[in-house]
Amino acid sequence: MNVNTMAKPFAGVTTFTQSCGLGTAPVPLEPYRSAAFFERERTQVFERAWLVAGRVEEIPNYGDYITVNLLPGNVPAIINRGKDGTVRAFYNTCSHRGSQVLDAGAGNAKRIVCPYHAWTYAADGDVVSIPDEPSFFNVDKKACGLSRMSVDVWEGWIFVNLQKQPEVGLQEFLGTFADRLAGVPYVAADRPIVLQADLDANWKVVQDAFIESYHIPAIHKKTIAETFSSDENKFARLLDARVFGPHRTVSMYGNPAMSIDPAHKVTMLAYASGDTGSLISAGTSAQMDAFLRHDAVNPTGSDCWSMDVNNIFPNTQIDFGPGGFWVHQFWPLTENTSRYEVKFYVPEPLTARQRLQQEMYVARVIEVVLEDLANVARTQRGIDSGGNDFMQIQDSEVGIRHSMDQLLKWVDAPSVTEALR
Ligand code: FES
Ligand SMILES: [Fe+2]
Repeated sequence: MNVNTMAKPFAGVTTFTQSCGLGTAPVPLEPYRSAAFFERERTQVFERAWLVAGRVEEIPNYGDYITVNLLPGNVPAIINRGKDGTVRAFYNTCSHRGSQVLDAGAGNAKRIVCPYHAWTYAADGDVVSIPDEPSFFNVDKKACGLSRMSVDVWEGWIFVNLQKQPEVGLQEFLGTFADRLAGVPYVAADRPIVLQADLDANWKVVQDAFIESYHIPAIHKKTIAETFSSDENKFARLLDARVFGPHRTVSMYGNPAMSIDPAHKVTMLAYASGDTGSLISAGTSAQMDAFLRHDAVNPTGSDCWSMDVNNIFPNTQIDFGPGGFWVHQFWPLTENTSRYEVKFYVPEPLTARQRLQQEMYVARVIEVVLEDLANVARTQRGIDSGGNDFMQIQDSEVGIRHSMDQLLKWVDAPSVTEALR
């Protein structure tokens, strides 16, 4: 597992691509449009990597569950907490004739009752009762529990693995990235605001839109261009980029001279918290101080830092900003469609002002995200035209190059150990 670093304050032209040990050749477009590549990605990447499925705060008590679709529509799963406090994951399918036992959503089920013929399971997956059991033929109840899925938890993040016996454990999969992010306080992680969209674009087209900063002055001209670029850094070049095996972090520039016109009272409300002075009041001042002091947050200690983009291979992005953290996930549906989900974590608002502040903040973020998402179908159509076979990638797009580099490695690697080498 390799670690490459090049930490420095913003200093004009950057060479992160080279310092991360990556090549500089054009990057192929075929993986963004090929049905054959999509199939290899499914079996070699999504069915072998550990995948982020949620956070422990979503299931604090015995019987609490969430449902997830790991490859949407293909692998519905249940994550729950047992009587013994253990987090478990199951395929969402009944041992009788296969019905999904829980509908999509979240809730509490100390007993899971299949809606079809009412087979009943305990929270640990064991069969509790089978209606009219004597009419079955020597059914072995002990062997009829819900099918288990491999699950592990790291720093509150619940990961699942679709291999029956994962080739590598979660710690080995995360490698040095786990050490780097260990101890980050995920402030107010129990209350996400969730946005989800099905898009006409390959999942990587969507993920790429959130990895790089080069697009900001063009696509986000009317919204956040002034926040992430300046006369000194017109093209929003990065502050820092580091890779950790298949995972990575980039740090984004923030314009230190950026200020909100006090006449824009609603924007002022959205962006300034009386409690913490930060973008969104995700916690108390003490909590936010601890978060912002962690070594993995603003790793170069830059005065012109805006946020860090942490990518856990293959499809999860955890962003650290001055107001806390948020998570994007990009799930493949077909070679040219995907599901995008973002979760923003905010505390329970205690005052009307806080509530309005959160609503305003999310409304502004949606405006920005829609600028990104409006562009992905346009990009996919261009890629699908077949007019080009390669894309040109510059230094601020180093994350896209690293992502493709790793995917190409994983689809060819005969084992996960080799993919991680
Ligand atoms: S399919 Fe679940 S009880 Fe029949
Ligand atoms: Fe964007």
